[in-house]
Amino acid sequence: MKNRFALTNPLRSLLGAAVLSSASLAMANDKVVLLTSWYAQAKQGGFYQAVADGLYEKQGLDVSIRMGGPQVNGMQLLVSKQADFIVNYDLQILKSVEQGLPVVAVAAPFQGDPQGLMTHADVNGLDGLKNKQVLVSTSGQQEWKTSPLRVMENSFDNSHFSFVHKANFGLFDQPQPASYDFRETDYGFEAETRVPIRNPEESFAITGTRAPITERHLVNRYYLPFSRRFGCMYPDSGIHHIIYNCATPIDDGRLMLVQWLYRNDSETDCPTQALIDWDAAITAEDRDILEATDPDACVDTRRRVELHMPSDKPGLVIRRQLLGLLEAHGESEVFASH
Ligand SMILES: [Fe+2]
Repeated sequence: MKNRFALTNPLRSLLGAAVLSSASLAMANDKVVLLTSWYAQAKQGGFYQAVADGLYEKQGLDVSIRMGGPQVNGMQLLVSKQADFIVNYDLQILKSVEQGLPVVAVAAPFQGDPQGLMTHADVNGLDGLKNKQVLVSTSGQQEWKTSPLRVMENSFDNSHFSFVHKANFGLFDQPQPASYDFRETDYGFEAETRVPIRNPEESFAITGTRAPITERHLVNRYYLPFSRRFGCMYPDSGIHHIIYNCATPIDDGRLMLVQWLYRNDSETDCPTQALIDWDAAITAEDRDILEATDPDACVDTRRRVELHMPSDKPGLVIRRQLLGLLEAHGESEVFASH
């Protein structure tokens, strides 16, 4: 087969048929490698079932299926001929065509895509996108070797700034953690605080001020089970940065972290890439620390497996609420190693 194909569509249960539909392009007994977009899962069952039932074989195809997953770049493997078909998303296929990559979309059995584009108020339809810049997220997710509970408790822990983030905004000589004004809600909690921060020259455009020490007014939210809103206002400039973090467990020791940011300043005030670079360095510091801890975090503190201090209050509330969520679903905590 000379051409390589990308199957576009999230509704993978129908894609077994999509592969067969291209059989006329293949020679008899062609070896075909299909790379899925994720680990084996029910909605991709059609591919595996077609192998088991011999459907591909009847069409003269020797199909082997490889699983995608985090850190697997399907398009790269397709173009380098490590795979003959991949399951992929429409936006990436459009991007690949734009870049001149030799790929063809052969099937889109799902005729509506649940992905959406967020626009400014003056854009009311696709026509309005003409001559506008469209940003598509590519790097806002990472696999971390820790547990979502560790990420959540760290994200509300005011005591780590001075140490973990001393290279950028942390005030190393003011380690006293700021206390939270705490409000529990039906989705989790809201925690408000004001944190003094270091403001090196590299962050002038981020904070909107040139003062060597400035302040973050934080209105953070925890959403059960593993999402966090970081609502950061810089009172000196009026700049708001709202960051969302969602941690999805992959297994007992790994998670996929997705992070995105909203802001009320402009590209002129602070280029997007500068903001990404600034936050990426901070996130990398958190990652280093968290990946050094035991991912098997204790949820039920009555077990006294871990000790806590007053600044851990958010982490303790997270644990209590998680435990309540587990119990509400007839589940209990399972320890891997304790
Ligand atoms: Fe941090």
